[in-house]
Amino acid sequence: MVQQGTPITLARGQYRLREALGGSAYGVVWRADDMAGGSVAIKLVNTGQMALAPASLRHHWIDAARAEERFLSSLAPWDARHIVRLLDSGSHEGMPAMALELLDADLASHLKAERGAGRQPKLPQALDWIAQVNQALAKVHAAGFRYLDLKPGNLLLDRRTGGIKLADFGTSRPLLDAPTHSYAGTASWQAPEQFFPRARGLYAPHPRSDYFALGALFFWLVCGRMLKYGAACAQAYSAHGREGAAILRREHGGLPSTLSPDEAASFAQAAGKEAADLLRSLLAPEPADRPNHALEISRALCAIRARVAEPLRRAA
Ligand SMILES: Nc1ncnc2c1ncn2[C@@H]1O[C@H](COP(=O)(O)OP(=O)(O)O)[C@@H](O)[C@H]1O
Ligand SMILES: [Mg+2]
Repeated sequence: MVQQGTPITLARGQYRLREALGGSAYGVVWRADDMAGGSVAIKLVNTGQMALAPASLRHHWIDAARAEERFLSSLAPWDARHIVRLLDSGSHEGMPAMALELLDADLASHLKAERGAGRQPKLPQALDWIAQVNQALAKVHAAGFRYLDLKPGNLLLDRRTGGIKLADFGTSRPLLDAPTHSYAGTASWQAPEQFFPRARGLYAPHPRSDYFALGALFFWLVCGRMLKYGAACAQAYSAHGREGAAILRREHGGLPSTLSPDEAASFAQAAGKEAADLLRSLLAPEPADRPNHALEISRALCAIRARVAEPLRRAA
């Protein structure tokens, strides 16, 4: 059991847990003091949830933590512009543990508070964040991985620069992996090929599955709500688990539409026609119809950004 005050000793130093920041079934994240008077985020395995799983599945918790540590430690310092920086790693009570740079809030809680106060991010801000996430995804793909869990809770805000960084690499998979029977990611944000298994119950997410989630995030930032498609997948998954995909297909007589005409129209009204064209291509049901490469997305974003009046805010 970890609690406030628990000391954590990793390869490079010792940390003392101060406050739980968040987590999921897989991980728990704490704000902690380091020995130099600074603060870090300590990410630990959620051993409470792990203990509830059947013994044969418990390795998933350790695999996810190890995959995250492997990916983050493979990055060069200059790769960390829009990816959370790994500061230290090791183990705690026999489980993998990491110290990460401490950021200010995840985008889900930040925007919940902003929207609660009646504020909505402006279009230039949404475009800059999408461009930053696109850069982060390009790094992940260049390092040989598909990210597969893009969502606001996995994006961390740096209030000093206004920029965001991608975090939580426990779901990432190598680009060349064979299709698997295991479902991964978060139903409300993911591409059809990630949510709906192919024949024989196999999932084959594509690197461009990340572009679909980028489109879902773009829509959420601009329109202030989730896509109806994502909401339907989330609802089906929470009611029926993995069987939800087949039930949803039956209810819709095929794949539900990923972007309805009224959603496309309200996005175009808020962000303009060029942005709506980019959104439509990111949200194409087939990976082959989405942009080929991060460069294609960044060119489109730059062209849209250039027409939007506010000066570009540079994130360090
Ligand atoms: N480096 C960090 N700085 C500040 N908060 C963080 C940091 N890393 C994670 N968090 C908080 O903890 C939550 C869970 O972290 P995440 O890495 O997504 O773990 P999980 O695998 O449990 O989803 C995030 O949504 C965020 O609120
Ligand atoms: Mg997460």
